[in-house]
Amino acid sequence: MKLNIALLPGDGIGPEVTDQAVKSVKAVCRRFGHEVVFSHGWVGAAAIDRFGDPFPEETHRLCMASDAVLFGAIGDPKYDNNPGAPVRPEQGLLRMRKGLGLYANIRPVETFPPLLHKSPLRRELVEGAGFVCIRELTGGIYFGERGRRDGGSTAFDTCTYTREEITRILKLGFEFARKRNKKLTVVDKANILESSRLWREVAREMSSSWPDVTTEYMFVDNAAMQIIQWPRNFDVLITENMFGDILTDEASVITGSMGLLPSASVGTHTSVFEPIHGSWPQAAGKNIANPVAAILSAAMMFEYAFSLPEEGRAIRDAVKDSLEEGIVTGDIAGEGEMAYSTSETGDWIAARITSQSSM
Ligand code: IPM
Ligand code: MN
Repeated sequence: MKLNIALLPGDGIGPEVTDQAVKSVKAVCRRFGHEVVFSHGWVGAAAIDRFGDPFPEETHRLCMASDAVLFGAIGDPKYDNNPGAPVRPEQGLLRMRKGLGLYANIRPVETFPPLLHKSPLRRELVEGAGFVCIRELTGGIYFGERGRRDGGSTAFDTCTYTREEITRILKLGFEFARKRNKKLTVVDKANILESSRLWREVAREMSSSWPDVTTEYMFVDNAAMQIIQWPRNFDVLITENMFGDILTDEASVITGSMGLLPSASVGTHTSVFEPIHGSWPQAAGKNIANPVAAILSAAMMFEYAFSLPEEGRAIRDAVKDSLEEGIVTGDIAGEGEMAYSTSETGDWIAARITSQSSM
């Protein structure tokens, strides 16, 4: 197969972790006989510095013309404490999501046995836990009407959802649950918000078409508590944009390090695969960031964008081996244990993908 992949490394540690994902992609393609072509695109603060635009039209065209996008991270501290900045890196991300129609963000929360002791939760709570968060990504308060009135002294943001937006993402959620352990938890704030009541109404109507899936409804505050109290009770969790943003950060740490979790954003055009961690500007260029989330995002790319599960599996197996053998970066290595650099970890995993074939 010929794979055209757009690389959008972005800011901070984005470029160095994306480099490691590329090594694994190349190793898999060599082993399974695929031809791969990478094309670079600018995004985030890096794109503002060059073009004054966090998501230039050229980058959008590149994404549209590619089979998949590997994305690093965006964000730069020079914008964080400057609410008046006319353009912000985050706007680039939102425009990419909207422009590519990426309405679903899929974030699997997987625990790795060698790392259970790294979890902030007790081992017996996390052992065996594994669930998928599905976050709506192109609607809600992120994209609703916002502004100021009363001469600027009052500010508002609005959360809007249409029946169509809710239906298409719930359909994905029901299908996910059907393929997993057949439980879908719809998270909302239906005791307060009208948009949440529409989510619940639509979910109730749809649930009869997936009789094999148990649908449960949970208020978001309660879900925030249950995720850390009983993570094993979740299978597929689905929610609107901002609740999903918050809950997935929370869920990401229960596995031991945020540096491990990948994500896929899918929708109407090219899908985007990215680590869920941010740009960690303090570590940029130091070769210390954990590349595993980026590498596992490449695994998701093979599975979701190319329907090549064996190739995805090869990457996952190599990552598991690296964790078992202690080839890990400083966020995972224990006190007094050897920490490998970003590039050493990436090299090891890519080499493992190549040597697996002869094992
Ligand atoms: C994420 C990030 C983004 C979001 C930011 C960078 C705009 O936190 O992908 O979760 O809020 O969606
Ligand atoms: Mn977030």
